[in-house]
Amino acid sequence: MKNTKVIGMGKYLPEDVYTNDDMAKYMDTSDEWIQERTGIKERRFARKHKETTSTMGARAAEIAIERAGIEKKDIDFIIFATISPDYYFPGCGVLIQRELGMTEYEVGALDIRNQCSGFIYGLSVADQFIKTGMYKNILFVCSEMHSMGLDFSTSGRNVSVIFGDGAAAMVLQGTDDNDKGVLTTHLHSNGTHAEELAMINPGSHGGHYLGTEQYGYPDPDVLGGVFITQTMLDTTGQLAPNMNGQLVFKTAVKKFPEVIMEALNKTGYSPEDIDIFVPHQANLRISKFVQKVLKLPDEKLVSNIQKYGNTTAASIPIALCEAWEEGRVKDGDLVCLAAFGSGFTWASALIIW
Ligand code: UT7
Repeated sequence: MKNTKVIGMGKYLPEDVYTNDDMAKYMDTSDEWIQERTGIKERRFARKHKETTSTMGARAAEIAIERAGIEKKDIDFIIFATISPDYYFPGCGVLIQRELGMTEYEVGALDIRNQCSGFIYGLSVADQFIKTGMYKNILFVCSEMHSMGLDFSTSGRNVSVIFGDGAAAMVLQGTDDNDKGVLTTHLHSNGTHAEELAMINPGSHGGHYLGTEQYGYPDPDVLGGVFITQTMLDTTGQLAPNMNGQLVFKTAVKKFPEVIMEALNKTGYSPEDIDIFVPHQANLRISKFVQKVLKLPDEKLVSNIQKYGNTTAASIPIALCEAWEEGRVKDGDLVCLAAFGSGFTWASALIIW
């Protein structure tokens, strides 16, 4: 059976920097509040109508393909993870294929929608395809353009100050080298609290999801017109993400260590064997908490939420790519990845670099 190796990585962050003080121009917030609660100092927002989730992903993919030393024609399959796609459908997989000029090869394109765990879910899927020998080279892209869908008024401040835009990509390849590559992936979910971190609208519930009429859902006997209602359009926040931050925080600090220990136990490693830990960049306080539980020294934790905010599916690969570019990820290192987010979904992976 093949092992799955990362042979090239790239990242793309939009140029425009929005500091916490910039955010305070739109809503009642402060640099002090945001830094103290999240660690975030600034984030990047893409240029509206000039960039999209798939075009940002394409810029990251071009770098990853070049660094992998392969040609676009060598790519057998595309996986794209995002929760902020260009269109409701089709997904970004086919859009990036077109953007990269790869339509003539007609390879499959799969879209992954697993929120903050999207990267590890996608990595796990790619790993299975490669292990079985179905595909040799997979282009895996994660990209988010949250800035188009956030509520920048004070009522959306607990969510909008956290998120940023960005993309990262990797080329994954099958190798016969048993000492290298993805060792294990662990995927979990529990839908009990699905609405506690969610963008509810638009959707087939037609505003009926809480079992009340407060969201102005149309007459159920009338066909059509239920995806987006006038009430949703008239009410700030109804077409934006919402989050029960405290519940998410409390669950995340429990699930992160749990799923990491699951991966370590499966492979016979202990926390001290980890050379580099790249958690999903949700909140610096969450990452620091997990670092403490695992007793990892500062130099083993990768944190760039300060510069980019939370870029959901793209956050782990952006952080991993940046750490690699800085020389922090070396040949033979045990790399630990973990994520938790909306769903709730959570996941971990161990890679020997
Ligand atoms: O990647 C997906 C996974 N997401 C996460 O892991 C996020 C997990 N949760 C968190 O990171 C934190 O819960 C937040 C950073 C979102 C919020 O921090 P918190 O310490 O849990 O604050 P809170 O929600 O309990 O709110 C405390 C106060 C409230 O005011 P009152 O009711 O005490 O008067 C909020 O209205 O802070 C207020 N607040 C803000 N104030 C200034 C909420 N957002 C802001 C803001 N600026 N941006």
